[in-house]
Amino acid sequence: MGKDKAGRKGSAGFEAFYSAAFGERWPDLRAALLSPVRQVARINRFAEPTYVEAKSKGFSIADFAGSWALLLNEGKRVEIATDERGLSDFYVMDPASIVAARALAVEPGDEVLDLCAAPGGKSLILAESIGEGRLVSNEISDRRRARLRAVLEDYLPSEVLGRVTVTGHDATRWCLHETDAYDRILLDAPCSGERHLLASPEELKLWSPARSKNLAVRQYALLAGALAVVRPGGRIVYSTCSISPLENDAVIARLLKKREGEARVIPLTFEMGEPTEYGCMILPDRTGYGPIYFAVIERLSHPETSSS
Ligand SMILES: C[S@@+](CC[C@H](N)C(=O)[O-])C[C@H]1O[C@@H](n2cnc3c(N)ncnc32)[C@H](O)[C@@H]1O
Repeated sequence: MGKDKAGRKGSAGFEAFYSAAFGERWPDLRAALLSPVRQVARINRFAEPTYVEAKSKGFSIADFAGSWALLLNEGKRVEIATDERGLSDFYVMDPASIVAARALAVEPGDEVLDLCAAPGGKSLILAESIGEGRLVSNEISDRRRARLRAVLEDYLPSEVLGRVTVTGHDATRWCLHETDAYDRILLDAPCSGERHLLASPEELKLWSPARSKNLAVRQYALLAGALAVVRPGGRIVYSTCSISPLENDAVIARLLKKREGEARVIPLTFEMGEPTEYGCMILPDRTGYGPIYFAVIERLSHPETSSS
């Protein structure tokens, strides 16, 4: 990318930045990002099975990394309702997000932290696996935290809800109060969200390469903070819905360099999507879903073992 082109602002700058990142693939990816989001209706594992089964009649059902969902192809819709216990039955979301949340591989008994949790689709997935463990779902925005609380209350039975705590801290500062505290951390970071940007001409006009660079600085601060909060031997899933390389692999590369010997990347087995240097991207031009990027990072128990 020429310096000129790379530095351009507004929609022309946006085009130059992403064509440089994706080359010949960009026009197709761009078109896919402008198409309507393809979502599925994830089955709430806590909802009454016979009720869910009856309601699922007439839908195709697919398994996304061990989590089942109704496919909403060809304009199919499902009315969200409650079972006899008052639990909401389906949560409509992008299956790429399901795959990212499941990559955290939460096990019964784990202590889990979802650092940027609202509106809560991924927290629901994590809560399904904690067993006798606990989940802390954190969200800095008051408005979004209220939505998160409502989602958790709608979908989780009281015995599980009792193991979930909602907090409203600034995730970048978490490590000032608590370190080595969780087995699993999900960091679903605030990001460029190009799907949203492309659909908004007003926002696109204001775009500049600095936007993605500044977000990457914030994302690195969040990730470096998370590394201090996860227990040695514990794991972090870092994810974004951005397609900017600066906000994805580059954030992981910076962590591996600056915190050499403290963290390693866990190789992924591919459910959906394509490999990147450190993680996986699920992009809508090839899968119809996403975009999402995620990578799994393990905090090393003994820093000196990093070279092994
Ligand atoms: C990508 S969204 C999370 C989506 C969520 N994981 C889900 O699956 O529903 C990122 C969230 O992080 C929150 N956030 C941004 N900066 C934060 C910070 N410093 N600490 C905590 N939350 C933050 C935003 O308000 C936003 O709700």
